Amino acid sequence: MHKIDFDLVEMTMDTMKYVIDRVSSTTTKIGKPKKEEELKALVGETVTEKGIGGEYAFNLWRKHLAKVNVPVDHPRNLAFVPASPTRAAIMFDLVTAASSIHGAYWMEGAGGIFCENEAMRWMVSLTGLPEGAFGVFTSGGTAANLSAIVAARENWRSSNAVHKLEKGLIITSIGAHSSIKAMAKVADIDVVLVDTENRLEKEALQDTIDALSAEEKQRLFAVVGTGGTTNAGIVDDLEGIAQICEKENLWFHVDAAYGGGALMADSVRHLFNGIDKADSITIDPHKWMFSPYDCGAVIYKNPELAKQAHSQQGSYLDIFKDEGAHGFNPTDYQIQLTRRVRGLPLWFSLATHGTDRYKQAVERGIELAQIAGRLIESMPHVELVREPSLSCVLYRRIGWKPEDYTHWTYENHESGFALVTPTKWKSGDTFETVSRFCFINPDTTENDIQMILETMV
Ligand SMILES: Cc1ncc(COP(=O)(O)O)c(C=O)c1O
Repeated sequence: MHKIDFDLVEMTMDTMKYVIDRVSSTTTKIGKPKKEEELKALVGETVTEKGIGGEYAFNLWRKHLAKVNVPVDHPRNLAFVPASPTRAAIMFDLVTAASSIHGAYWMEGAGGIFCENEAMRWMVSLTGLPEGAFGVFTSGGTAANLSAIVAARENWRSSNAVHKLEKGLIITSIGAHSSIKAMAKVADIDVVLVDTENRLEKEALQDTIDALSAEEKQRLFAVVGTGGTTNAGIVDDLEGIAQICEKENLWFHVDAAYGGGALMADSVRHLFNGIDKADSITIDPHKWMFSPYDCGAVIYKNPELAKQAHSQQGSYLDIFKDEGAHGFNPTDYQIQLTRRVRGLPLWFSLATHGTDRYKQAVERGIELAQIAGRLIESMPHVELVREPSLSCVLYRRIGWKPEDYTHWTYENHESGFALVTPTKWKSGDTFETVSRFCFINPDTTENDIQMILETMV
């Protein structure tokens, strides 16, 4: 299998050289997608009875396919939520793959899970959750949100036999990420959205609960607050939401998939006050904790409740006599069974660099947003839509229509210079198309921002 027409050693060297070149490059262009038919015409048949050979296939990757991806770690890729994995984490992702660790059970993955748990303990410490809180790495924020809300729903159902027959209901704000609605669909849960321009406040939440019918109130079991909205970096009133959840006996989930990294930053940590009262929290290390894809995480105040919801029973599982085989089983706390030990690259990078470097890198993202804000204020052709929040900046090009933003994004992307995409911002009853920066990569420079803004003149 390894020896088709491409020597294994040569292939290993070639792969390593490619990886080292890729992570060392400072001049990567921002790639652009092509249509599938175009790609097919370029590469021809790739999966054949005899194989096309590793060298040939790798060359197809290098020559045609690698270039049609849009690297999210490019310093001028400021669209959506970009990423910026450390070299240490990327290198250990290779080690993780090479080690073939089944990360569901301690029995098979003790070494990898031990390392994941070291990183997890640090993440839990950032939240301020009480002793006993713990979590597990997932494939991303969506899987983490789904795991948390299923744990919440099962807990609610177990509290009263009547609930077993009812469809659950949750409340969140219109600023919540689309994955909240998506995972509610998967779990067959109704969602009530609070219409807020800025953060979800205690009063608006209470009004929404009060306005529910008696039947809806009976089905309500959780509130999802956002710790850094994807669109604008807004952190909900977590302290206020926690108080209401306690009063109304509701599960409090915080989706900090993007913003969770900012728990490290002294400059904004106060915005997250109240997160320590959450029942569950989502944080994506593949967003602002410099991990490669894919690596999300869900943390529970009481992991036992998650275990009751997610633990899979199998007659083949309780057969191990060896004491060392018994330990933390990640499968018990989220929706997945077989899993990569996807927290391992994060652990290695944290162990290599230390948490201070992580904190500095996150503070740099926040600083870049402030720098962008000042630059925007100093230029006559652009203006801030709102003050920068966490590492997100919303701004408008004065006089532009939606199609002007689309065209500008296209031109900058086409030339391989930058990827900055427009978004919509709700003001009153209308949605305005505006431009948005999201800073994750600490290597983005003030000059990068200035150059991007100058292309809008
Ligand atoms: C706040 C928030 N929640 C959830 C998600 C979904 O995370 P993932 O794409 O890792 O599933 C995102 C993604 O951007 C997000 O920003």
